[in-house]
Amino acid sequence: MSSAAVLTAAGSGTRLGHALPKALVRLGGQPLVLRAALGLARAGCLGSVVVTVPAAERGVFAALFPGGTVPGTDVPARVVAGGPTRQASVAAGLAALADDVDVVLVHDAARCLTPPALVRAVESAVRAGHRAVVPALPVTDTVKRVGDPGPDGAAPVVATVPRLDLRAVQTPQGFDRALLDAAHAAGAHRARDEAAAVSDDAGLVEALGERVWVVPGDERALKITTPRDLALAELLLAEDH
Ligand code: CTP
Ligand code: MG
Repeated sequence: MSSAAVLTAAGSGTRLGHALPKALVRLGGQPLVLRAALGLARAGCLGSVVVTVPAAERGVFAALFPGGTVPGTDVPARVVAGGPTRQASVAAGLAALADDVDVVLVHDAARCLTPPALVRAVESAVRAGHRAVVPALPVTDTVKRVGDPGPDGAAPVVATVPRLDLRAVQTPQGFDRALLDAAHAAGAHRARDEAAAVSDDAGLVEALGERVWVVPGDERALKITTPRDLALAELLLAEDH
């Protein structure tokens, strides 16, 4: 039996606003998807990586993994076409996993600075018997629930949410493969459009009534969404050198 990752890189990156798909945008000279794949491979606990990419761009992405491996490692990398939503892309990635995979980590290419230690922590928590594991950080902002905004755009506060037990969830999220397959099968009707699809896999597992466990996340696992995130990631990268 072995552990594998599904690396989601099939998004367009609308909010980042580059002409290229977000996963091909460079950080410190390296495409985000390659940096993310290296972080996964260097964890040392994964036997293979399946990368979901925009169908039209498959050749460009495949060229980043010459010989079908994550460069500089012996970890096989397979490039497959993603779907119209992240949920659909993950489902396509799961379908491409080898038969002997019993633990799967789902990771966003957009979280390309995730340290290998976090990958190992999630994988080993699943191996230890937690069938669904997500890394997360405490929420530091005060969070308020609001009602519908009025004509001037101001929205009334309905409640202040106690934040002590709130967590902001990251990736990689780790799962017993059979559980994640079942969760995606049960939620498949939601995968087609962005309004109905889930943005994290743990949500699909929760919808099955299964327990999801949280382990400590890492600030470096931030998701690059906006140009400001990319600038912040450049700073973090410089800090590390
Ligand atoms: N993703 C994917 N397939 C999709 C949509 C997203 O594999 N159909 C991936 C992205 O490539 C990214 C991760 O899921 O690594 C998280 O998605 P997000 O940050 O929203 O990226 P994009 O969808 O590319 O960005 P945007 O929403 O701004 O267009
Ligand atoms: Mg998106």
